[in-house]
Amino acid sequence: MFVLGIESSCDETAAAVVNERKELLSSVVFTQPEHTQFGGVVPEIAARAHLEKVTSIVPEALKQAKIDFSDLSAVAASCGPGLIGGVIVGTMTAKAIACVQKIPFIAVNHLEAHALTVRLSQDVPFPYLLLLTSGGHCQILVAEGVGKFKRLGATIDDAAGEAFDKVAKMMGLGYPGGPKIEKYALTGDSKKYDLPRPMVGKPGCDLSFSGLKTAVRRIIAEKQDLTEQEKADLAASFQQAVLDSLCSRLKNAIKIFKKDYPNGTHLVVAGGVAANMALRNALETLASKHKLTFAVAPMKFCTDNGAMVAWAGMEHFLKGDSDPLTFMPRPRWPLDPTTNR
Ligand code: KG4
Ligand code: ZN
Repeated sequence: MFVLGIESSCDETAAAVVNERKELLSSVVFTQPEHTQFGGVVPEIAARAHLEKVTSIVPEALKQAKIDFSDLSAVAASCGPGLIGGVIVGTMTAKAIACVQKIPFIAVNHLEAHALTVRLSQDVPFPYLLLLTSGGHCQILVAEGVGKFKRLGATIDDAAGEAFDKVAKMMGLGYPGGPKIEKYALTGDSKKYDLPRPMVGKPGCDLSFSGLKTAVRRIIAEKQDLTEQEKADLAASFQQAVLDSLCSRLKNAIKIFKKDYPNGTHLVVAGGVAANMALRNALETLASKHKLTFAVAPMKFCTDNGAMVAWAGMEHFLKGDSDPLTFMPRPRWPLDPTTNR
């Protein structure tokens, strides 16, 4: 069985093919370069660039997988949440292929695709505790099963990735900010600047990053020009504050997870920020302290890609799920339907 997955919800145009034996037969990712100069993704430019690229990326994914359109068992696309122009491009492409090939169309939730990616490369059983942290989202959830998530908390303002991007922009480091901050932090002193740890010590699992971002803005405003060492120290101090905040909120979540899901064994991190090595190390330590197994997808599958969509599509396909061609692309699509953030 072959499932094609198409991703176009932000600034990556991507496609991949997987089979039911968890073999990734191809994965083609094109990151749009146009946004770097703006310090963030420009939705209108992104939508046009997806439209131009998708017609070459999809055939390339099939070619690398050494299969034809007629070999596909199903086709999946990220149908939300995301920048609606791009989401429409991926959704319509997948629907067209499903229509012509007379195969099932699967509308994948982009967040679920991040959440399930870890299962493509490892045997991680449900239920697992999940930190989903990307440029647009930051949530703590329990993955109970395919299509079944319980949200324990979410950011009340910025996502962690967004905070990385905004701080990098303020420091003049460029977009995307996460990898740039991480690199600078390697040579910086994380204790140099005393930054707030938002939400730490409060009950519950909600998160917040806008106060931290404002504190960094104040430090930058006070200085005229940051030296390279000051940039490194600020990057390290900011990154440490984000990690402390995430770990503290996860501690509360672990308590709930252990009580409500006594057979749960894994702590998983997913989404673009999961590419951060310092975060991976901190979560590994946290997990082992609480006798949980830490799991994360390989680095290249943390940021947006087609493999995660193809795999989430396959997980649904194996359950017998499919969606009608009347499915409307969704700019918002909460993983836990009892919540609206
Ligand atoms: O999942 P993703 O590719 O797109 C969304 O669905 O948002 O995540 C992109 C986000 C960006 O905010 C980027 O700065 C962040 O992930 N990111 C990182 C790292 N690599 C990417 N943040 C921290 N450290 C990294 N190494
Ligand atoms: Zn994403």
